[in-house]
Amino acid sequence: MKLVCAVLMAVLVGTVTAQPVLPRDTLPERFWEAPWPFGLGKPPATWESPVRPDRIALGRALFFDPLLSIDRTVSCASCHRPEAGFASPEALPPGAAGKRALRNAPSLFNRALGVHFSWDGKAKTLEQQVVMPISNPNEMDLPLEDALGRLRADAGYKRQFKAAYGGEATADTLADALAGFVGRLTLGDSPVDRFQGARDRNALNVEERAGLWIYESKGRCWTCHSGPNFSDELFHNTGVGVVDEKPEPGRMAVTGKAADRGGFRTPTLRGLVQSAPYMHDGSVKTLEEVVAFYRRGGNKNPSLDPLLVPLDLTDEDASNLVAFLKALSRAGR
Ligand code: HEC
Ligand code: HEC
Repeated sequence: MKLVCAVLMAVLVGTVTAQPVLPRDTLPERFWEAPWPFGLGKPPATWESPVRPDRIALGRALFFDPLLSIDRTVSCASCHRPEAGFASPEALPPGAAGKRALRNAPSLFNRALGVHFSWDGKAKTLEQQVVMPISNPNEMDLPLEDALGRLRADAGYKRQFKAAYGGEATADTLADALAGFVGRLTLGDSPVDRFQGARDRNALNVEERAGLWIYESKGRCWTCHSGPNFSDELFHNTGVGVVDEKPEPGRMAVTGKAADRGGFRTPTLRGLVQSAPYMHDGSVKTLEEVVAFYRRGGNKNPSLDPLLVPLDLTDEDASNLVAFLKALSRAGR
């Protein structure tokens, strides 16, 4: 009996004190040396400016460090997991102190091409965006001043900030380091890029090619998921979330314009196989369900984007479209 009690206690204590497992950094050591991927168009000016490996290394260390959360349990990578395409496998990922983020954490690939940040575009630059989760009460819940205090008190970071920026950590250098790291995360060179850009006919199989055609024609996907990153970087009401008791205002919360009600930023279509679940609330679990959602023309509501109409697709078209989306996640060859 005593033994059973002891074992039970150990199990209970174990579950109570268990810390969430922090994701490991699985990127190649000098990942930032990789060239701008094929298929992503012209690199932005930020990519071409001289690389500062010391600043990228600092941003990288910060990204994987739970020190930036109030109870030191959550790092940026907890919600933007390397193995999940730097997105979150949970619809609403857990933050510090038992809280949950209010939206799904999007993939961080190709944000160097970003024009607006967050699902509603509340941040205008990557630098503005990367420090927001630190003080967000549902995410890391640590006032920015306290985060800077911790960094200034830490001998390792003190040295790294001094070497990389010539002084102690400030709001600007913290943002610069994190944005410098995130901005080097790229994903391209898929079989779709080889097929389209390098005229490699064999890069896609018959189903994937048929799916690409649906994407470009009666599927109408390209009207919003356009350009090399498969996003127009604009906001549209597709009706995701309108079934909720209190639908989110989305873009309207930022602009105050009624026309922006329920608008969310078009996400990239790259890396989808890793980054499930989908949509700003993580409400759609599979790519088959995504295609079914568009087949019925999104979710009806008074602000639905007029670009969304019920689609005339056969079951075969739908499965080919899924095959095409999956091909966009495969490595180049
Ligand atoms: C608790 C989960 C969580 C943590 C921790 C977290 N994020 Fe996020 N991240 C999110 C969510 C949710 C969004 C979407 C925010 C929104 O739309 O309001 C987001 C959005 C972003 C974006 C914008 C992406 C885009 O497509 O515009 C960037 C960049 C980002 N996070 C970087 C970071 C960095 C850097 C850290 C660490 C300092 C971090 N995140 C920590 C959940 C998290
Ligand atoms: C009217 C513009 C528009 C059209 C047309 C459109 N999309 Fe979207 N797409 C969006 C927006 C906006 C979102 C984000 C919606 C949200 O979360 O509220 C989105 C989200 C997605 C996502 C989720 C990605 C993620 O990371 O969460 C996938 C996959 C997707 N769309 C695929 C498609 C496919 C396939 C088609 C064609 C059948 C299509 N889209 C047509 C605007 C559009």
